[in-house]
Amino acid sequence: MSACGVKILSTGSYLPEKILTNADLEKMVQTSDEWITTRTGIKERRIADAATATSDLALAAARKALAEGGVNAADIDALIVATITPDMFFPSTACFVQKSLGAMNAIAFDLSAACSGFLYGLSIAKSYIESGAYRTILLIGAESLSRVTDWQDRNTCILFGDGAGAMLLGRSEGQNQIRAVYLGADGNYANLLQLPGGGSRNPSTAQTVEQRLHYMKMEGKEVFKVAVTKMAEAAEKALALAGNRQDELALLIPHQANRRIIEAIARRMEMPMEKVFVNLHKYGNVSAATTIIALDEALKEGRVKAGDLVELVAFGGGFTWGAAVLQM
Ligand code: ACO
Repeated sequence: MSACGVKILSTGSYLPEKILTNADLEKMVQTSDEWITTRTGIKERRIADAATATSDLALAAARKALAEGGVNAADIDALIVATITPDMFFPSTACFVQKSLGAMNAIAFDLSAACSGFLYGLSIAKSYIESGAYRTILLIGAESLSRVTDWQDRNTCILFGDGAGAMLLGRSEGQNQIRAVYLGADGNYANLLQLPGGGSRNPSTAQTVEQRLHYMKMEGKEVFKVAVTKMAEAAEKALALAGNRQDELALLIPHQANRRIIEAIARRMEMPMEKVFVNLHKYGNVSAATTIIALDEALKEGRVKAGDLVELVAFGGGFTWGAAVLQM
C-alpha cells in the first residue's frame, strides 16, 4: 500500500458529573482553596462514581467521537486506549471498550506512558495509517485517577481528576493533519512519580495496602522543574519537525498539571497566554486524557477552526514527554 496522510475525522470527550471542589478538599485534608488556587490554578475536578471504571469513561467519549465522525464501530480497525488506570491489569481496557462499542474488526490494546500517553498514541496511529497497516483508528485517553489517589495525602490529592477523550483518525489523500510528533523518555526519573504497589515489584499484600503503596507517589517540586524544561523542548522540536514556527500556532494545548508550569512554558516559547488553552481549573490533571479533552473543548468552543495550526504538548511519569503539531 502506498504512503498516505492522516485525517482527523472527529473528537469527543466525557467528564463524569460529580464535582469535587477545593472547598470539599478543605474538609478532607489540611489545605485551603487559596493554597490550591495559587500553587496550581485548579478549582475543581471530576470524580467517577463507584460503578464507573475507566472503560466506561472511554466508551462515553468514543461514542461521541463516532457520532460526530459518522463512523460505524465496525469500520474501526485499531482501537488504542492510553491509560495508567486500566480497569484491570488484563484484559486491556481497550478490549472492554471494543466489546461495548461492537468494534469487532479492530485490534485493541492499551498504552502506558502516563500523562504523555495520548501523544505516544498519536505517534502510533500516525505510523499505522501512513504505512497502510490500519485505516481507521480510534485513539482514546482515559483515566480514573481518583482510584489511585491517596485522599489522605494533601501533596497529591488536590491535583488529579477523572475523564476521557477520544479521537478518530483515518486516511487522507490530501494533506497530513498530523504534521509531526516528537517523543522522549528518561527512566532515570522513574522514582519521582510512580504507583509502587500492586505490580510484580511489590505485589499486593495486606502489608503493601497498609503502607499505601497502591496510591500514586510524587516528588512535586522535582517533577515541576523537569516538566517545564522537557515540555518547552518537546514543543520546539515538534515544531521544527513540522517545519513550522511558534508564531504560526493558533493555539498551544499543554498538559494541564499546573497553571504555573503552563505559564512557564508559554514564557519560554514566547507564546502569549491568549494563545494557550487552559481548562485545569475545571478538571485538574486527567493524565493521558488531558490533552485530548482540551483539544475537544477547544474545537467545540470555537477556539480552534479548520485550517488552524495547533500544538499539543505533554509530560508525565516515566518520565515521558511529547508534542504534536496538528493542522486542523
Ligand atoms: N495544601 C496546603 N499545603 C500544602 C499542600 C496542600 N494541598 N500540599 C503541599 N503543601 C505544603 C507542603 O507540605 C510544603 O510545606 P513545608 O514547606 O512546610 O514542607 C509547602 O506546602 C510547599 O510545598 P511544595 O512542594 O514546595 O509546593 P510547590 O510549590 O512545589 O507545589 C505542586 C506543589 C503543586 C505539587 C507542584 O510541585 C507541581 O505541580 N508539581 C508538578 C506536578 C506535575 O506536573 N505532574 C505531572 C505529571 S502527573 C502524571 O504523570 C500522572
